[in-house]
Amino acid sequence: MQRSFWIDTDPGVDDALAILLCALDPQIHLLALSVCGGNVGLNHTFRNAHRLRAQLQQDFAIVAGAAQPLLGVAPDAAFVHGGDGFGDAQWPDALGSGESAPGNGESGQGAVDSALHAAQALIEAARSHPQQLEVLALGPLTNLALALKLEPNLPNLVKRLSIMGGAFTQQGNISAFAEFNIAVDPEAAAIVFQGWPGAVVIDWEATVRYAPTIAWTEAQFASGKPHAEFMRKISRKTLQFKHSIAGSAGAEAPWAWADPIAAFAAVHPDRCQFQSAGIETVLHGPARGATLVNPRQDHLQLLTSLDPLEFHQALSACLAV
Ligand code: BDR
Ligand code: CA
Repeated sequence: MQRSFWIDTDPGVDDALAILLCALDPQIHLLALSVCGGNVGLNHTFRNAHRLRAQLQQDFAIVAGAAQPLLGVAPDAAFVHGGDGFGDAQWPDALGSGESAPGNGESGQGAVDSALHAAQALIEAARSHPQQLEVLALGPLTNLALALKLEPNLPNLVKRLSIMGGAFTQQGNISAFAEFNIAVDPEAAAIVFQGWPGAVVIDWEATVRYAPTIAWTEAQFASGKPHAEFMRKISRKTLQFKHSIAGSAGAEAPWAWADPIAAFAAVHPDRCQFQSAGIETVLHGPARGATLVNPRQDHLQLLTSLDPLEFHQALSACLAV
């Protein structure tokens, strides 16, 4: 029997590869993408979710959610992902005529696949499939925090929640201390980290630790296979960014695939090692968005290690079709 996945996401170049990794695994049935703003605005991430569905030719639902974090207005990561989140590659649009992406500042009500907000749609799916859904969170945690506030029993209804977020040793990517997904909505992260016992968290430093090189990644993207070609085209802006920070390492520098490693840990938890701990989210001051591991708590599962070769093989496998 296939496992039912629900992915909350802000696609995003690395979200795209993570979604391919899950959706192409024969064990996995992808039920839905719930979409938030993050890497770029919700109008773009929602459109990109449709591009992914067309690329995969699968029939999962797409549900729009939060355009903005719980508090304030967040910066985006267009400098990594391109202005449209997919490298400004002009990849063909898959939203039908008459369908429109929700604009920034809108809730996403009336989205094409559900009239519900992503948070409500997730609650409904979890109630109809108790203890069956495996949720993978690849963006800011706004949708999940809203869902948890609306249904505090959600952690008992969901089989597993895996989260890409945090920087356990404060070597973040968006500030000196913080990782992007948590820095965009630290209040949402605090709600989820406190209120979701059993959640699995994969941090930024793990993605750097187990990253393939730029050269290796480019070789996979050059296969000419449809998904490789899709990733090659949408990742040109990200490649430029990676080279800009690579220094003398050049193409031997790591290309850290954050969301795909979280996807690997979600699909293959038996191939990963975890430690029990809690996470305190810093909400104020220059370290806002930092994540401090609390060893005196044990309600979360933090990724400690995996075999990078197995992770890289999983990347190759989904780029070979
Ligand atoms: C995370 O931030 C986003 O830019 C990526 O898509 C990933 O989810 C990495 O810090
Ligand atoms: Ca993401």
